[in-house]
Order: sequence, then structure tokens, then C-alpha cells
Amino acid sequence: MPEPEPIFIDIATGNFKRGIFNAIIAPRPIGWMSTVDAVGKVNLAPFSYFNIMSNDPPVLVFSCNTPEDRPAKDTLKNVRETGEFVFNLVSYDLVHEMNLTSSPLPAGMDEFDHAGLEKAASRFVKPPRVARSPVSLECRVIEMMKIANDTGGPEVNVTFGKVVGMHIHAAYLDDHGHFRTHLAQPVTRLGGAEYAISQPTFELNRQFTRANESTY
Ligand SMILES: Cc1cc2nc3c(=O)[nH]c(=O)nc-3n(C[C@H](O)[C@H](O)[C@H](O)COP(=O)(O)O)c2cc1C
Repeated sequence: MPEPEPIFIDIATGNFKRGIFNAIIAPRPIGWMSTVDAVGKVNLAPFSYFNIMSNDPPVLVFSCNTPEDRPAKDTLKNVRETGEFVFNLVSYDLVHEMNLTSSPLPAGMDEFDHAGLEKAASRFVKPPRVARSPVSLECRVIEMMKIANDTGGPEVNVTFGKVVGMHIHAAYLDDHGHFRTHLAQPVTRLGGAEYAISQPTFELNRQFTRANESTY
């Protein structure tokens, strides 16, 4: 029996369902971003449209869609006002707290308090970090771009940030200074309400690498 043809979806005909895209491009790491507004009010929210874009210099990217009830999410408003954010790693033990911080709280309400999370001071930027998170990366915004909606709907805003400082809890570093990802158990996002942690991990060495390539 020949394999049936794969189903083809033409985006322009409107058959595209957002959820399918999320389930396909998975698992996605989660950027748990702390920010402050111009007067120092703290915000914390998770973003799974998030990733590393360069390691020299270290650059992270995340994107905010536009909510129906306000012109911009607090996180976006804050990075526009201050040009700073802190990435916090969501370890498995922090998953419920992470989820609580995705609630649409009124602007100015502190999600750290809402989720019972302790803050720790950052060194170079104003947003505090999640004290219990295994890793927090202090970032300064280097670029912001808009993705317009094809059919006139709300835009999406992408923020690029350069990492200027890293906080890593010593328990997650081995004797050679390598980060022990499997101990941190970073939570990743799949489709719908599904999440995953990458267990067990395995190694796969490259057969051919040029200088620097094995770091990607
Ligand atoms: C795991 C997870 C991932 C999320 N990823 C995104 C995302 O990539 N982009 C986005 O706009 N919202 C995302 N959200 C929703 C935001 O976290 C949510 O809208 C939050 O209330 C925004 O907070 P803020 O208005 O305080 O910035 C995600 C929520 C969860 C739970």
C-alpha cells in the first residue's frame, strides 16, 4: 500500500489552526521574564516563543502577542520603557509558580507575590531575579521588531536581548564548570496544555565539525 499523501494546509485559506503550529514546534524552552516599569514596579511572566539566537555575543529572543484587553502585555510595555529584562530558568520544581505568573493580573500587581516567589537582586539591571531559579540571565535589549498580522489583526512584538550577566546556582555546575541541565530539569512547552522535561538525556557526537560548530 502506498503511503497516503501528507495533508497540506494552505495558510491563506484560513485552515491553519494556531495550536497545530505550537504542537509541531515543540518542545519549546520557556523564558520566564522579570521586568520593571519606569517607576520600578515588578512583573514576571513566561514566554515559550523564546530561544537563544547567538552565543557570541549571547543573545536571547522572545515574543509577545497583543492581548485583547490592552494595547500591550506588561512585559512588553516594561522592556520598551526600560530596555532590560531577566531570563529565569523554570526548573521542574518551579512549574506551578511559573503557571501562576501567567495569570493576567492588573498592571502593577507583582507576580512574584502572587506566586509566593522570593526576589533576589540583579547586578547590572533593575529587574529582580527569581531567587529559587537555578539560572538567571540579566539582559539588555538590543533590538525590537514588529510582526504585522496579514489580515489586520494585532501585531506580535519580538525582543532581542544581550546577556550581560549570569547567575548560576553552584549546585548545577560540575567540577569542570559545565552546567548540569539534567539536574535543573528545565520545563518545556508542547502543544495545548502539555509540558515536558527532557528525561532521559543522551549524547550524540558529531562526526564532522569545523571550529566552533559543535557549540550549536
Ligand atoms: C508556558 C507559557 C508560555 C507562554 N508563552 C507566551 C509567549 O510566547 N508569548 C506570549 O505573548 N504569551 C505567552 N504566554 C502567556 C503570557 O505569559 C501571559 O499573557 C502573561 O499574562 C503575560 O504577562 P504580562 O502582561 O504580565 O506581561 C505564555 C504562558 C505560559 C503559561
